[in-house]
Amino acid sequence: MKNKYDELDKRHRQAEEGGGAERIEKIHASGRKTARERIDMLLDPETFVELDKLVVHRNHEFGMDKQRIPGDGMVTGYGKIDGRLVYLFAQDFTVFGGSLSRANADKILKVQDLAMKMGAPLIGLNDSGGARIQEGVESLAGYADIFMRNVRASGVIPQISAILGPCAGGAVYSPALTDFIFMTKSTSYMFVTGPDVIKTVTHEEVTKNELGGAATHNSRSGVAHFRAEDDEQAMMMIRELFSFLPSNNMEDPPVKPCTDSAHRTDEKLQSLVPDNPNKPYDIKDIIISVADDHHFFEVQPDYARNVAIGFGRLNGKPVGFVANQPAALAGVLDINASNKAARFVRFCDAFNIPLVTFTDVPGFLPGVDQEYGGIIKHGAKLIYAYAEATVPKINVITRKAYGGAYCVMSSKQLGGDVNYAYPGAEIAVMGADGAVSILYRNKLTDAQKAEAVGDYREKFCTPYKAAGLGYLDEIIYPRDTRLKLIQALEMTVNKRENLPPKKHGNMPL
Ligand code: HXC
Repeated sequence: MKNKYDELDKRHRQAEEGGGAERIEKIHASGRKTARERIDMLLDPETFVELDKLVVHRNHEFGMDKQRIPGDGMVTGYGKIDGRLVYLFAQDFTVFGGSLSRANADKILKVQDLAMKMGAPLIGLNDSGGARIQEGVESLAGYADIFMRNVRASGVIPQISAILGPCAGGAVYSPALTDFIFMTKSTSYMFVTGPDVIKTVTHEEVTKNELGGAATHNSRSGVAHFRAEDDEQAMMMIRELFSFLPSNNMEDPPVKPCTDSAHRTDEKLQSLVPDNPNKPYDIKDIIISVADDHHFFEVQPDYARNVAIGFGRLNGKPVGFVANQPAALAGVLDINASNKAARFVRFCDAFNIPLVTFTDVPGFLPGVDQEYGGIIKHGAKLIYAYAEATVPKINVITRKAYGGAYCVMSSKQLGGDVNYAYPGAEIAVMGADGAVSILYRNKLTDAQKAEAVGDYREKFCTPYKAAGLGYLDEIIYPRDTRLKLIQALEMTVNKRENLPPKKHGNMPL
């Protein structure tokens, strides 16, 4: 019997050593961790259970039959984060560059299927040279199988991806189909075609990092949602994100015991929003003021800064914050901001996370580029997302809600459950200057124009017209925002709203 145990020990050791000490050293020298080290950092201690540790590839071409390493460059299994079940896979770059073989694709499929069956999130730790070149179409089929399951799982279980090394070619599309992408600052990159191909085809010269590094995807393309300093920080950030999420779409998000008083007021908010409508302020100051323990876990902080999105808690319950940001481009809604906010609204709705919206928006961004770029269809996505969302929707208009942007931002008419405004809110078709110019064209003297602007401002640039029509439920003192939001959440806790039966809608994409 001893020999049999020795044999098993040997195979376990081989799997754990992966591509060997030299390749592990290379990984460390590049500033990365191995797949197993990452898993250790991500999960609660001693909770990882590995599956398919002894799977080997089935390829005989290119001398591959003589190179079989148990596990085949992929570590898969399940474990716990804060005591809650998660499934995961981690590509092991030390074995054939973490490339995807048919055999190790099957390992991913198994955890995808298990995660769906058990209703638990799936986390993918990506670090791979892409399709296993020696296998050809079998590897490509593996990717397509993974994509298929990504899509089936979308909106059923949270799917989280971390890019911790190379991720190129079609391999980028599995992470892109998941809910959130983390990237490490200087060790990860994602692109469909790399710098060499680009140089040949378009003669553009660009480095790997410029093309698809963490900075690019977090601030320019919007492909990624979080940028971490290194592997360890990425794993900690995933744990934090996970703390806001339910395990599946049938659960409510986890409630954390709250020691921050629901009745906490904040006098600073009384004067935070400047009287002058053209003066900026930071909307995140309001979010941070109202959230439990002043904690706001921002998503995509460096992309489309004119809208801020992210998670926080109110009286222990996770909420998704969506806020126009007057400190960036005056909080205007443009293509990127609309896409960013719409996707977040849909995520929160899919996973039963109430939406708290702060509105201060002068309208949609005018411009030829925006029109040619399709601001109509991109802006429509945000309308679609809010209108479709059946989670509790609470809105606070802090200052401007002009034009279409009033309608878009969780308005009563798009199904807002509780709509508040600050006393200084301006809710109108447009600002007073613009309105007077259009109404009177060039017919007024300067003095008459000033009077007309003042008149319009007094009549329309207030919350009272909307409150008088019942479009706002309450005009609140800014200092009480936290309590008012918590009251609204308590009131909507049993909200049930069903959409008409359909296969799916046709969102303007
Ligand atoms: C098999 C691979 C591999 C791959 C890397 N390796 N990529 N083996 N298939 N796709 C192996 C290398 O041969 C090497 O083996 C080891 O992994 C480490 O690779 P290095 O090149 O030494 O590492 P590094 O210098 O860090 O460069 C990493 C890399 C480079 C940039 C990822 O390896 C690379 O360009 N690989 C090919 C990438 C690629 O074109 N993949 C196909 C993309 S198309 P040894 O034994 O020497 O350690 C695709 C289509 C998917 O993926 C479509 C889905 C729909």
